[in-house]
Amino acid sequence: MNIIRLKTIDSTNRYLNDWAAGQDLEEYITIVAEQQIAGRGQHGNRWDTEAGKNLTFSLLLYPDFLPLSQQFLLSEAIALAVYDALNSLIANALLPHSFQIKWPNDIYFENRKIAGILIENELIGTKIERSIVGIGLNINQEQFSDELPNPVSLKHITGETTDLDYLLELIIKHITKRYEQLKSGETDLICSDYHAALYRKANFHPYEDKDGVFSACIRSVADNGVLRLLTASGEERLYSFKEIKYK
Ligand code: BTN
Repeated sequence: MNIIRLKTIDSTNRYLNDWAAGQDLEEYITIVAEQQIAGRGQHGNRWDTEAGKNLTFSLLLYPDFLPLSQQFLLSEAIALAVYDALNSLIANALLPHSFQIKWPNDIYFENRKIAGILIENELIGTKIERSIVGIGLNINQEQFSDELPNPVSLKHITGETTDLDYLLELIIKHITKRYEQLKSGETDLICSDYHAALYRKANFHPYEDKDGVFSACIRSVADNGVLRLLTASGEERLYSFKEIKYK
């Protein structure tokens, strides 16, 4: 595995993207930082975590075999890889819950977020030329800022300290497996595994859109990543990310 370890950096996504621009690097090259001082989250948010206690890393892929219209499959494959790795880690722990994927690609334990994924793509025409897959996982941190709505760490869940290098290598192994499935066209498998892994995949739950709070169940996630909800009155509603909140 080609893992480059940095002590402090603004953002591993920014660093890897700048490094990969204009030259061909090895696929799967990974940058991991003990501390990010300007970690990027989804939709312009920040990703702040305590130095040395968590995993914050970025991995380089060249998914040029994937048409732009199918880019959500990459997001599914990466979320599944993190989900696979975390669930394999707790498999023998006899816990009352397992990890799930909250649409589109957060990793949840019960109702709390343990990991976030930020994939930044460089496009050429209708092809994805390069993907920077950025992953942040709360591992050994115990105290979180009150500003975060619902954080959880692996330490909260297992009560144990986890070796960061071991877990990083485990996640990269799972990313390799899922990405190779994507490359070899096993898209039905990725979609069905993604649906099976979804948080709130069964029953009615409260959601909020621009018109207010309503109750719905998840019908499916479309190939382009749009969430299809079914309301209690049988109406189908479609949402892109940020158009809907889980209550
Ligand atoms: C989210 O908002 O849920 C996505 C968070 C992604 C954070 C990771 S940490 C490593 C990588 N570098 C960044 O600047 N962001 C991602």
